[in-house]
Amino acid sequence: MCGIVGYTGPNPALSRVIEGLRRLEYRGYDSAGVALATKVGEKLVVEKKAGKLANLEGTLTSDYSNAHGGIGHTRWATHGGPTDVNAHPHLDESGKLAVIHNGIIENYIELKEELERRGHKFKSETDTESVAHLLSEEFKISGDLATAMRSVCSRLRGSFTLLAIHSDRPDLIVGARRNSPLVVGVGTGENFLASDVSAFISHTKRALELGQDQVVQVTPEKVVVTDLSGAAITPKEYEITWDAKAAERGGFKHFMLKEIFEQPKAVADTLLGRFPSSDSIELKELENLALDCNRILILACGTAYHAGLIGKYAIEEWVQIPVDVELASEFRYRKPVLTSKTLVITISQSGETMDTLMALRHAESLGAQTLSICNTIGSTIPRESDAVLYTHAGPEIAVASTKALLTQVVVLHLVALYIANRSGSLSKSRIKELISELLELPNKIEEILETVEPLREMTRGYKDSNSVLFLGRHVGFPAALEGALKLKELAYMHAEGFAGGELKHGPIALIDKGTPVIAILPPASSEIAEKMRSNIQEVRARGANVIAIADPSHNLDIPNLIRIPECEELLQPLLSIVPLQVFAYEMAVARGNDVDQPRNLAKSVTVE
Ligand code: F6R
Repeated sequence: MCGIVGYTGPNPALSRVIEGLRRLEYRGYDSAGVALATKVGEKLVVEKKAGKLANLEGTLTSDYSNAHGGIGHTRWATHGGPTDVNAHPHLDESGKLAVIHNGIIENYIELKEELERRGHKFKSETDTESVAHLLSEEFKISGDLATAMRSVCSRLRGSFTLLAIHSDRPDLIVGARRNSPLVVGVGTGENFLASDVSAFISHTKRALELGQDQVVQVTPEKVVVTDLSGAAITPKEYEITWDAKAAERGGFKHFMLKEIFEQPKAVADTLLGRFPSSDSIELKELENLALDCNRILILACGTAYHAGLIGKYAIEEWVQIPVDVELASEFRYRKPVLTSKTLVITISQSGETMDTLMALRHAESLGAQTLSICNTIGSTIPRESDAVLYTHAGPEIAVASTKALLTQVVVLHLVALYIANRSGSLSKSRIKELISELLELPNKIEEILETVEPLREMTRGYKDSNSVLFLGRHVGFPAALEGALKLKELAYMHAEGFAGGELKHGPIALIDKGTPVIAILPPASSEIAEKMRSNIQEVRARGANVIAIADPSHNLDIPNLIRIPECEELLQPLLSIVPLQVFAYEMAVARGNDVDQPRNLAKSVTVE
């Protein structure tokens, strides 16, 4: 949440910063702003505006080409509404020091009161402004922005990524982080600081990881990292494996549509190199984990939580050990019973979701071994886990998660097969069969995507519905939950996913004449296929307008039938969720919503 960029180098800072903000706007779009050092020792130029980045761009009257150091922010509001005044950057009273922030300063009220007692005047309602005033005081004492940042950070509680600039040193940007993301982009004669690498990917592929409670100073030629005591730290460097094109729309109307269509490749890339032979699985990353666990606990949020729910069915069936899946935000406030034989798997596309990070730390403090499934190299959650398996979905920019989910489920399947192979809980021939099924997935997803046009047209016919219900059983139930989540967040419609068997226990009362119900059928050979067909009859008898998702093993007399290819029942969500994503996408477009930037949301929820 909130996108942050800092630039220092020979090029005009404004264009570099705005380009970075454009790529980070998925993190928040309540307001945007920049601070630029145009003249040594003079007031900074600050431009900020409520609303999307385009609003800010529309008001810029100069390109400030004489500014070579600058910082920029795109906001997801927490403290203080989305107004011009609350937009970042925030300034000290001299107007020479500016700060941008992602996160929440939990002790900002006491800091503000203390600062007001010393005569500071506040302009905004944000927690961030306290940092600007504190930094200003400390800068007056030491005359050094990094020293000032270190002492201010020691006083802050909560989570933050902070960037600061002072016009006395226009080529210097100072950053700090605790529980919020910040990476350094190392260019040639220019350097960047940003919430994630997409902000600078078109200028450099070299990045440095920053750890907890570290302060970084960047000038065009140098990057210096220290801890809060000032001790030097050597940050880990890594190379970004994708290029700028991957973070662009590439001819698609929205990032989400592009990412839906990237799913065959994302799944294929995630499977790549994992099968040295037709009946064996290689996951070198797990070699240092003791896999004699007697329980698996999966922790995640939102769509990643649904990936965990889907994976549970396969792990339990193939590995024969109990799996629990829990919302990270709930887990972290419980006193759960974990042992060293519990393997905790966290799932996170961004690797920065605060609730998941805190749940991971909670699990670690209770002695569990931890494995993370993540899409973002170098992010905090994998760095703090005992082992990591990266999904290879490429950058996911749209706020609504699509390709990340499919690849997360695939990785859970790989983990299950890997453990089953070692423990012997599955026969070699069954493993071979399942590997072959997994390898066929990219083509099957492609097949669905080639035939989505009728589904898109049909979706538009439901645009004025008040509510859509999703029904599934067994592994189709979490798929139904995911379908409902996508529709809620994109179409702003009431949507709920139910387990077919639960219908009669309450939800069937919601069915009225014409209520759209999307029903996901398992393969006809499944023991629950008949039950699901009965559920469809039950809702139809009460007037529901059923849309069925089924493979060709079913002969169904339903006008709205969406066909998916046949596959192993446990893998079916990897196919059935694709039309649900398209349904939500098209509904959002039909209702005139902003698909890539749905209201009130932001990608990467780095606050609690
Ligand atoms: C929904 C969505 C969110 C995320 C959730 C976890 O489309 O994108 O529900 O899945 O916020 O995010 P990560 O995976 O980054 O931890």
